[in-house]
Amino acid sequence: AMQRSLVLLKPDCVQRGLMGKIISRFEEKGLAIIAMKMIQVTPELSKQHYAEHVEKPFYGSLESFITSAPVVAIAVEGLEVITVIREMLGATSGLKASPGTIRGDYSGSRQMNLVHASDSEESAKRELDLYFGKEEFCAFESVA
Ligand code: CMP
Repeated sequence: AMQRSLVLLKPDCVQRGLMGKIISRFEEKGLAIIAMKMIQVTPELSKQHYAEHVEKPFYGSLESFITSAPVVAIAVEGLEVITVIREMLGATSGLKASPGTIRGDYSGSRQMNLVHASDSEESAKRELDLYFGKEEFCAFESVA
């Protein structure tokens, strides 16, 4: 079925100048980018986004990282896009992700893993609402 996912290009992606390469992989796969913006994540937004991790021992470090530089929030639409993107990203840790995946090719870190993507339809809805207003989604004909 048609789905939407929230993709975040994290601070390491922006600082290393890998935004274009990673956006290209989604475009080349034929996924539709229907909204996109660069923003500075605040501690408040981080706690909302990572609500399920706030109690975890690594949360403090994750919040420092995600608020350390701007991120690019992208709404992506496509068939089964939630699973498709997670497969493209590879395992959470760049140390475990297979070569050929985005994290496998560009990340050597568990925390600085370049990209976040929603893990279910429920989290996609919740996360898209955190970053975008309904009027920000742009529909267009994809020819990919
Ligand atoms: P993400 O897919 O955005 O979801 C939660 C993030 O927390 C994850 O990517 C990593 O950036 C980070 N993370 C997950 N597990 C750990 C861990 N064990 N130690 C440090 N950071 C982690």
